[in-house]
Amino acid sequence: MSQRKLKLGANLNGVGNSISFWRHPDVPTDASVSFEFYKKQALKAEQGKFDLLFIADGLFINEKSNPHFLNRFEPLTLLSALGTVTSNIGLVATLSTSYSEPFTVARQFASIDHISGGRSGWNVVTSPLEGSALNFGKGEHPHHSLRYEIAEEHLGVVKGLWDSWEDDAFVRDKASGVFFDPAKMHTLNHKGKHFSVQGPLNIARSRQGYPVIFQAGSSESGKDLAAHSADAVYTGHETFEEARQFYQDVKSRATEYGRNPDEILIFPGIGPIVGRTEEEAERKYQEIAELVSIEQALNYLGRYFEHFDFSSFPLDAPFPDIGDLGSNSFRSTTDKIKREAKEQGLTLRQVAQRASTPRSNFVGTPEKVADLIQQWFEGGAADGFNIRTVVPNGLADFVDLVVPILQQRGIFRTEYESNTLRGNLGLSIPRNRYTLKPEVV
Ligand SMILES: Cc1cc2nc3c(=O)[nH]c(=O)nc-3n(C[C@H](O)[C@H](O)[C@H](O)COP(=O)(O)O)c2cc1C
Repeated sequence: MSQRKLKLGANLNGVGNSISFWRHPDVPTDASVSFEFYKKQALKAEQGKFDLLFIADGLFINEKSNPHFLNRFEPLTLLSALGTVTSNIGLVATLSTSYSEPFTVARQFASIDHISGGRSGWNVVTSPLEGSALNFGKGEHPHHSLRYEIAEEHLGVVKGLWDSWEDDAFVRDKASGVFFDPAKMHTLNHKGKHFSVQGPLNIARSRQGYPVIFQAGSSESGKDLAAHSADAVYTGHETFEEARQFYQDVKSRATEYGRNPDEILIFPGIGPIVGRTEEEAERKYQEIAELVSIEQALNYLGRYFEHFDFSSFPLDAPFPDIGDLGSNSFRSTTDKIKREAKEQGLTLRQVAQRASTPRSNFVGTPEKVADLIQQWFEGGAADGFNIRTVVPNGLADFVDLVVPILQQRGIFRTEYESNTLRGNLGLSIPRNRYTLKPEVV
């Protein structure tokens, strides 16, 4: 039996992650809209044999938003361009089921899958920000539970559309004039509560069958959606124990849905900070944290709570009781912020600083970071990690200093196994519902 191998994603985010990151002398101020910047990062991740590039997204901004959110590339457009300058790495784009049409989404991801030779993936999100409704002519932002109901139906329709064509449907025989076999074209005829889509889709099934489905959202409904319908989950846990519980929970939900738990991969997002010594790593964090003023930090924290204004509360008193605020937007994140503040007795200032300059436990020497990764991977808390850049050159440091250790320990690949994302992730190709014949990569 082949040994289970760690998976790695590079979460590329321009000037992103922390609000003053762009002010650091080593960060290009236009990184979020610089194709050259993204290309360089993508090639570095591919040099490090990463499984995938991951692009997060959002649909509403205002003057309080993080600089990266104010002026950034649309993920699918960016990834289709990055697909042409890379050859093995997967391309995972975030797109919201609350503000998109399944027909368009199915077409876009199928197209990128064809363009990239089978490397595309979709990070399914439901859009946490209430203001998103204002940009799409919708009266009201759908409630958390409704968003997940919509997501489940949306995703089902997209998968149905991806099955529109059997693999050998396009005959293209010039001599006989037969372009396609009508018996191998299938019309979905979906009429549901939220979507009505006839089909068929106007693009063939791609090499992966379906692009890889990621899901981000960790509430009960989020975990259920993932367990039922996703190939991978992007999550955010800071402690091993929290991550392990989440991992077991999603895997057992998948089993309850009759799935093989190895066919759903859990990727905690981490922001490693690597230094040759502990002190060097700590110094790199401080350099970023010190660029953020307390006003900015409060603004940033407020964004998670429907842009709540925390500025009238005392900074050094315990984090205030703000009731249910945030439960209709970033529910799992706001629950966590409130819980940690209470459990650890944090002040408002401390909560704001942590939110505005996130700091994971993965800070220290390359060996220390590799040890933690190995512990989470072997201890049932992760199948892989999404690596965020939280200090300048963070991705390059990780590739140059941590990846070789993981390779020496035999838990990470030294060469790509495949040039499709499913192939590298060890995920099988979904069968076409109309043929139900197993397919081979
Ligand atoms: C780790 C993580 C990453 C996320 N990334 C995005 C993102 O890039 N864009 C987005 O609109 N929502 C993102 N979300 C939000 C979720 O998709 C969801 O809309 C929101 O968090 C509410 O769901 P939840 O309570 O299930 O987490 C993310 C959530 C988590 C936990």
